[in-house]
Amino acid sequence: MSYYRIRQNTDLATDFTPIYQKSWLSGGKLHPWTGPFETVNSPVVINEDESPLVLGSYPLMDAQTSLTVLESAVKAWDSGLGPWPTMSVSARINAVSAFARDMARKKHEITTMLMHEIGKTAADSEKEFDRTIDYISLTVEALKDLDRASSRFSIDQGVFAQVRRAPLGVVLCMGPYNYPLNETFTTLIPALIMGNIVIFKPPKRGVLLHQPLLELFAKHFPAGTVNTVYGDGKEVITPLMKSGSIDVLAFIGSSKVADILKSLHPRPHRLRSVLGLEAKNAGIVMPDAEMASTVSECISGSLSYNGQRCTALKILFVHDSRYEEFKEKYCAGVDALKTGAPWETGVKITPMPDPESALRMKEIIDDALEKGAKIINNQGGNVDGTLVYPTVLTDITPRMRIYREEQFGPIVPILRWSEIREVLDYIVESNYGQQVSIFGSDPEKLGRLIDPLVNQVCRVNINSQCQRGPDSLPFTGRKDSAEGTLSITDALRVFTIRTLVAAKDSHANREILRDIIHDHHSAFVTTDFIF
Ligand code: G3H
Repeated sequence: MSYYRIRQNTDLATDFTPIYQKSWLSGGKLHPWTGPFETVNSPVVINEDESPLVLGSYPLMDAQTSLTVLESAVKAWDSGLGPWPTMSVSARINAVSAFARDMARKKHEITTMLMHEIGKTAADSEKEFDRTIDYISLTVEALKDLDRASSRFSIDQGVFAQVRRAPLGVVLCMGPYNYPLNETFTTLIPALIMGNIVIFKPPKRGVLLHQPLLELFAKHFPAGTVNTVYGDGKEVITPLMKSGSIDVLAFIGSSKVADILKSLHPRPHRLRSVLGLEAKNAGIVMPDAEMASTVSECISGSLSYNGQRCTALKILFVHDSRYEEFKEKYCAGVDALKTGAPWETGVKITPMPDPESALRMKEIIDDALEKGAKIINNQGGNVDGTLVYPTVLTDITPRMRIYREEQFGPIVPILRWSEIREVLDYIVESNYGQQVSIFGSDPEKLGRLIDPLVNQVCRVNINSQCQRGPDSLPFTGRKDSAEGTLSITDALRVFTIRTLVAAKDSHANREILRDIIHDHHSAFVTTDFIF
């Protein structure tokens, strides 16, 4: 196992303060951990050091401790009677907004650790942080809108009703390493603001960056509303799922792990799952594509954050007539990408988060080469510890892993096509159905291609790379790519259930409802308008 060695000691590396996290959050308190710890290594070795930079450590919790965390979450839910699930919407909004204000002050601390833990560039780490803060404020605004729309009664066939969205219970949130902050928070925040109780487990890579937030969760929310577990998933998550007390599983990761987790629940019909899983998004270059912008979108679509995005373009299909031109321009652009430490100015390709990920890339490349593929860019195939140079492959056949498997790294297979049916067949036969990008300029041809594609994937991008944002748009997938839909407004729905209070129209019922509303006897039955 080797690491990428950085031959200069920049300010950011020396300025860095490790975090030795010695506690976990549950029941509103930070509990000291006296058991074993997991050491967190940076993906890089600095100068002549023998081992990678140590970023800190975190508790390696056991099953028993994980169950005590669950107990505190179940207590906070209290069958839906806990202070948080019964709190008024405006009070919950105030708590989340105050949390976000305090969180914004921790930007430097969090983004520095984010960059070091997962090797994301400084610019992209900051982007991830800012996008998360924006996501919280947009969620607050979306909830205000939702609440305003639900703050009235309907009358139909002699029945008064007020319909609102109510929380589901205890939500287990697990985000991925590539967006450890943002993708954890795109489930945690909507789940929380809607009145659910949250247990969250950070991904294996991307744990310490959450540590500065623990005291804020304790400060802004009633005891037990937000809880954390750390350690090996098999040890700490298995008992949670087996307990049957998890009501919602919000998981971003592989479909294999998602299937295992779901199968552990004793009453699967009681479990709601919100899943973001693998993808193999294709880029299709048409004969009449505008080449400069197509190449630029394909480069950033396939290689931003080293291709470690679920939405990355993971296979490119280029029409025969433009194949040579595309290959040449694409490879020149790829070889020009600056490689190096995540804190270097202008760097685009950085070390992968751990040696295992780099090794997997090497295995996928070797498998393709053994089966006849060729590397066509100058830097391709070079692996320097955790730094895998972008590798562009051609002469791809279906027997190669790279053809179907999600690489989640800086390897780009390019295939040529002559009949569009060949590309459509690939997409139809794929296990994944997240997004696709088509590059071309003929409206008629593009229009005809959109129609079969929208029934295979959940977003068709025209002359644009695949991506999740803007966060107001629905983010989901077909087949093995997702379960449930996330967007700012969809997330508020997915973590709740529609519940209503109804009464037959009678003089007595009108009086009762009027008094409940007038005297604020209920947090649910209210016509208050949130400004
Ligand atoms: O890894 C999957 C992310 O949701 C991708 O988000 O397209 O904004 O990078 P992005």
